[in-house]
Amino acid sequence: MSIIRNSILAITMVSGAAWGQVSVTIDPAKPGPVINKNVYGQFAEHLGTGIYEGMWVGPDSKQPNTKGWRNDVLGALKELKVPLVRWPGGCFADEYHWREGIGPRGERPVKVNTMWGGVAETNAVGTHEFFDLAELLGADTYVNGNLGTGSNQEMAEWMEYMTSDTKSTLAELRRKNGRDKPFKVDFFAVGNEAWGCGGDMTPAHYTNLYKTAASFIKAPHGARPKFIASGGNDHDSKWTETLSREVKNNMDGISFHYYTIPTGKWDVKGAATGFPETEWISTMKNTLAIDGMIRSNVKILDKNDPTKKVGFMVDEWGTWYDVEKGTNAGFLYQQNSLRDAVVAALNFNIFHAHAERVRMTNIAQMVNVLQAMILTDKDKMLLTPTYHAYRMYVPFQDATSLPVSIKGNVNYSLGKVSVPQVSASAARGKDGKMYLALVNTNPNKDVDVTVNVAGGAAKAAQGSVLTAPAMDAHNTFAAPDNVKPAAFSAQAAGGKLSVKVPAKGVVVVNVE
Ligand code: AHR
Repeated sequence: MSIIRNSILAITMVSGAAWGQVSVTIDPAKPGPVINKNVYGQFAEHLGTGIYEGMWVGPDSKQPNTKGWRNDVLGALKELKVPLVRWPGGCFADEYHWREGIGPRGERPVKVNTMWGGVAETNAVGTHEFFDLAELLGADTYVNGNLGTGSNQEMAEWMEYMTSDTKSTLAELRRKNGRDKPFKVDFFAVGNEAWGCGGDMTPAHYTNLYKTAASFIKAPHGARPKFIASGGNDHDSKWTETLSREVKNNMDGISFHYYTIPTGKWDVKGAATGFPETEWISTMKNTLAIDGMIRSNVKILDKNDPTKKVGFMVDEWGTWYDVEKGTNAGFLYQQNSLRDAVVAALNFNIFHAHAERVRMTNIAQMVNVLQAMILTDKDKMLLTPTYHAYRMYVPFQDATSLPVSIKGNVNYSLGKVSVPQVSASAARGKDGKMYLALVNTNPNKDVDVTVNVAGGAAKAAQGSVLTAPAMDAHNTFAAPDNVKPAAFSAQAAGGKLSVKVPAKGVVVVNVE
């Protein structure tokens, strides 16, 4: 048995082992790194109905709102204790000009969103509206700068506009636009996906541009955000290698993007619902692949940044399916099923395992886009299974990770594809309680897990479980509670808990 921190992958797997042999041991005497709350960060881009309609209706709308933001959506998001929101993109960020999004809304230029759907972008949501949203949610802010069609001067002036408390012309313009005190910018990224939509660059070219930009984008003492460089994706770790070797100043994190695509092919990705079991298991496998990607990037960081100054920020991740029939292909609108909740939970467990370097992640995206928390249809709203997974994992925000070992894990297999059936993660919450998350990747079989607490005795466990009869069970506007968590408890005997994790299920409990 290998002892690891909260990971599914370095475990001993016994293919075909008898039922009841999976045992999980938590070691509370060896606390690991804190799971930064920003691992549960969100992403809202000017894309489809992700912002307009999905969240923003404007202050004059009949839809109940606060400062233009939908009250129903705000209320639901507050339950998730959203720690951080990334905005305005994504690919959109490299075409966004901040000056077009300030001042009276009726006077802002209407542009074409050439990145997403070719629709009119009214600029109704700009800097002030974004910070309103963050303040209403109590979330930290992650602003993505425009390196593509912008300039260092434009980014520097945006930073001054947001953060200066002087009488400078830009600070006074911010005041004229209704904001006296500076905004709090927690993170600032220089460009996005520089390898692709952000300019089709090489790592070396971007690295030089980053160093220059980060030198000139200034903020007052004590107000400088953490600076994020645009990194690589998938199996490409060249970006981490070049950036961490060459950038010695002004870089707090390197971003990384990875999307789970059931088929692994961008042209036909697979459907969000009505998929075969082969696409269930391939989705599990493709999700778990992020563990290896993080490992190889962290290895590079450990070599080039031994003092661990630089975080590995997975600022885009999640499922990406074929868009729903009849929707604008540029809107990336997809249904969200129980499979997405299991994918989210597997990712969380992996992120916890790498908490030392993975200090921020942002699921793509918050509302109506890709693996969303919330779907809306005009004034209606529903919570997705992914939302419920986030809600269940709230106690892991800023919790201290605890080592977990899994013995006798079994494989769930279909054809030539196999994945470990059980994933586990444990932490000591900020409330002092011990939390355990268990995921069963097998859509057909429950799994009995014995839970031990090293050096102590478990008495009972209380929490919630998320599962449903069908692999693609999902919520609709007609049946919004089709998939939702239920109360869950487990009893102990002889100091060990017996936890039955249902097929395709996620369990999060407080272990007493
Ligand atoms: O999340 C959708 C898009 O995916 C983002 O705009 C881009 O950064 C990525 O390719």
